[in-house]
Amino acid sequence: MLILGIESSCDETAASVVKDCREIRSSVISTQIEEHKKYGGVVPEIASRRHCENILGVVKKAVDDAGITTADLDGIAVTYAPGLIGALLVGVSFAKALAMAAGKPLIPVHHIAGHIATNYLTYPDLEPPYLCLVASGGHSHIIEVFSYTKFRVIGRTRDDAAGECFDKCARAMGFPYPGGVHIDNAAKNGDPGAFRLPHPAVAGNEFDFSFSGLKTSVINMLHNAEQKGTEINRNDLAASLQGTIAEILTDHTIRAALSLGYKKIALAGGVSANTGVRAALSSACQKHNFACYMPEKSLCGDNGAMIACQGSYNLLAGITADESLNAVATLSMEDI
Ligand code: KG4
Ligand code: ZN
Repeated sequence: MLILGIESSCDETAASVVKDCREIRSSVISTQIEEHKKYGGVVPEIASRRHCENILGVVKKAVDDAGITTADLDGIAVTYAPGLIGALLVGVSFAKALAMAAGKPLIPVHHIAGHIATNYLTYPDLEPPYLCLVASGGHSHIIEVFSYTKFRVIGRTRDDAAGECFDKCARAMGFPYPGGVHIDNAAKNGDPGAFRLPHPAVAGNEFDFSFSGLKTSVINMLHNAEQKGTEINRNDLAASLQGTIAEILTDHTIRAALSLGYKKIALAGGVSANTGVRAALSSACQKHNFACYMPEKSLCGDNGAMIACQGSYNLLAGITADESLNAVATLSMEDI
């Protein structure tokens, strides 16, 4: 089975061909980061325009690199939710037209399910059920993965996502967008115990997250130092922030696993590339004797292979769409 996956939910135009669910035959990613950097974040209008310009070339290269033609495909999968609406619409419209022209099934894929699927591409033997922590620029979710296509979100952020907290603190510290990776690099030379940062508690659901208090406290600390004319060691602050985020994410996930009886834990989303988060989760899993899965670094950020992989499982489960498929900016995983 050969599935083409198309991703355009944010600032990456990506396409990939995946064979038999888990074998990546090609993967092409065109990133717009350099362009959005000037503005300190993604400008939705610019993102949509760049997707329009890039999508044909990206998809064509993915098909060519796989050594096939569109006639060889068994389906065309596309991210239809959640994300920037104008950006999503480019991928969805392109996929609909291609599926119609080639006479192939159109397969809708939820972006977060795509991130979860990066673990199938990394571990050939991984099978549901398991518990997955998805931390990205837009989401921080703890998800029960019942099967390849059935999910339940048991914890989510009430405000900022973990990636957003990394990026906004990084910006206040003077790092370019997207700042997560710069915090990661600076933290390598810093002392994680240098600053005591808050671990915000959330009333109600014990597995929910809140990162806005942590973000505000870092930003306030930087402003206070600036007003007083004192220096804050950026490496130490980066290490303290990263350690705190890693601790919060890991603590909630392990508590959820213990409470629900899961012994298999996976990590996914852009923040899964973070050295501190990977180390904290894997050492906590080791301590509790849980199996721990995390995507290969090249698959952590947005890519087409994760959409093709999840699209393959959706097709096997009979999840397809017709030409009425629309892009949706906000959509819970339980509604797919
Ligand atoms: O999954 P993703 O590529 O896009 C969304 O679906 O949101 O995630 C992007 C997020 C950004 O916030 C970025 O700063 C963060 O992932 N990120 C990292 C690292 N690499 C990417 N955060 C911390 N450490 C990293 N090494
Ligand atoms: Zn993503």
